[in-house]
Amino acid sequence: MHIDIITVVPGLLEGPFSHSILKRAEEKGLATVRVHNLRDYATGKQKQVDDYAFGGGAGMVMMIEPIARCIEALQQERTYDEIIYMTPDGETFDQPMANTLSLKQNLLILCGHYKGVDQRVRDKFITKEISIGDFVLSGGELAAAVVADAIIRLIPGVLNDETSALTDSFQDNLLAPPVYTRPAEYEGMTVPEVLLSGHEAKISDWRFEASVRRTKEKRPDLLKGTGWE
Ligand code: ADE
Repeated sequence: MHIDIITVVPGLLEGPFSHSILKRAEEKGLATVRVHNLRDYATGKQKQVDDYAFGGGAGMVMMIEPIARCIEALQQERTYDEIIYMTPDGETFDQPMANTLSLKQNLLILCGHYKGVDQRVRDKFITKEISIGDFVLSGGELAAAVVADAIIRLIPGVLNDETSALTDSFQDNLLAPPVYTRPAEYEGMTVPEVLLSGHEAKISDWRFEASVRRTKEKRPDLLKGTGWE
């Protein structure tokens, strides 16, 4: 998979992709992420990327020309499965959307800033608009990093133990069960016996039941229609 990200604040995206799982995905050749500075596609001395909104009102709007130049230059190199715009008025991101996007080859993500982008950018180029929740960030960069992380970790081979993504919370509409590690006893707090038993079938049953119990307690909405209510 290849992900291109367009931003006016490339520094915000340097950290997330140079550590841990995302770094390993790149080293293994399973996912590449390239960050593009929108200002490199602006013209004039000021390298202007935003301007006042027609009709007035507070806040600047990202201009179409630099964005169009950037997207069209990137399209010379690859065909994108989706051109995504990160925006609080987009479709709310969730695990099924992450699963679907993890199967794509090439994604382009545009990060909004200020009051957002000129509507004509959305009309002309954008195929998918994603929000990571009902709150407003100061830009789309952190949201793009969240989406890229959730997608890349699902690519087969990125996680050491491939099954571990399948047992994540939200796959199967269930939250993950509680987990424990050494010591088996801490200040009188013990680990459920079954987990120490070595009996795989019993452990698997316990984990499933604990998942259902936890989901009922914390997120009963996830169980609607599953038969586990
Ligand atoms: N940009 C600003 N807020 C955002 C959000 N909640 N989701 C995606 N992009 C955003």
